[in-house]
Amino acid sequence: MSDSTPTSDPTSTGDPPLRPLGGYSEGTGQPMTPEQFESARSTGISPYPVRVLQIETSSICNFRCNSCPLSMESYDRPEQHMDAEAFGKILDAFPKLEKLELQGVGEVFLNPSVLDLIRTATERGTAVHTFSNASKIDRAMARGIIESGLKLINFSMDGADDETFKRLRKGGTLRRYKRCVQNLLQARAAAGSKTPHVGAMSVLSKNNMHQVPMMLAIAEELGLDSITFTKISTSQNPGELDSIGLTEDDRNQLNSMPPYNGKLEVNVSITPMNFEERMDCYWPKHMAYVTVQGDVTPCCNYYDGRTLSLGNVFEQSGEEIWNGPAYREFRKKLWNGDLPDNCKTC
Ligand SMILES: C[S@@+](CC[C@H](N)C(=O)[O-])C[C@H]1O[C@@H](n2cnc3c(N)ncnc32)[C@H](O)[C@@H]1O
Ligand code: SF4
Ligand code: SF4
Repeated sequence: MSDSTPTSDPTSTGDPPLRPLGGYSEGTGQPMTPEQFESARSTGISPYPVRVLQIETSSICNFRCNSCPLSMESYDRPEQHMDAEAFGKILDAFPKLEKLELQGVGEVFLNPSVLDLIRTATERGTAVHTFSNASKIDRAMARGIIESGLKLINFSMDGADDETFKRLRKGGTLRRYKRCVQNLLQARAAAGSKTPHVGAMSVLSKNNMHQVPMMLAIAEELGLDSITFTKISTSQNPGELDSIGLTEDDRNQLNSMPPYNGKLEVNVSITPMNFEERMDCYWPKHMAYVTVQGDVTPCCNYYDGRTLSLGNVFEQSGEEIWNGPAYREFRKKLWNGDLPDNCKTC
């Protein structure tokens, strides 16, 4: 399954870069030279402004996928959609954003304001990307998405037959997934538009890794632009998910699959970061995650602001938060090898 695209990304884990997921280097570059990074280890300071942000615009979902924190018994975060006023405050707090991913623990297209939020950010010159379970993309929503200016969307798949899809993405069916994805592709064709880029996203575990060839076939049959394979993260729910996480043998098996020669763009990121790569993680250098409650955290692995919040964007400016005491403390620990909790198993 290996992608032949070489990567020069210094943050790479050895897999090809996960372009549709983050496109992390797109327009953002490396914020620090290795020399600057060396001296930043003692201060925890990272250059401002922040140019890439993930914002959780909804913490409500109509699915209960087996991999997702939302399905954990202990999950008790409040359900909330972000409104236009709160979203505007975040954009004001981080005024130089080049790219925004609407991404969190919830379904973006359940938020009744979602198209307005995308339009607002687009009009400010920010490229908007997102993920979705696809279930709410009817024809009207599809037309709205085209008009909103959305640049990229990845539809989460995880199963290539009905039984697997229903088991792994509880609340959805493969049939509905296909119909909703087609709604968007048809609306894009009808509008003669090149955007958004429309991809599939598959989280691989022992439950579905054997379906990779079938997933490629479905993505081709639908006429998608890309497919991204990533690994299940078991860190949030080790008890339940550990047994289905990919082992080295599984990764070797996946990597020894025949190379894909079709027309889809294929992105693969299934290798865990090693210790040095975690210490050098690009997130706290130039990206941040904002929860629906406004808590700023280092990345979506810290999705609950009650566990870790480095500041609140409804109370402070982005600049105050980015190099405030909590962020600097977090970076100093990470950059000096004293990995904060969720970074240990990232
Ligand atoms: C949390 S969801 C939110 C967006 C939307 N509801 C969706 O499902 O696409 C974002 C992405 O994270 C993936 N995901 C969920 N649980 C995961 C896990 N344990 N490890 C890695 N990715 C996971 C989902 O499959 C989805 O592609
Ligand atoms: S659809 Fe997305 S947010 Fe909802 S349960 Fe599944 S992975 Fe989680
Ligand atoms: S958990 Fe830590 S190492 Fe992993 S992406 Fe987030 S900040 Fe980086």
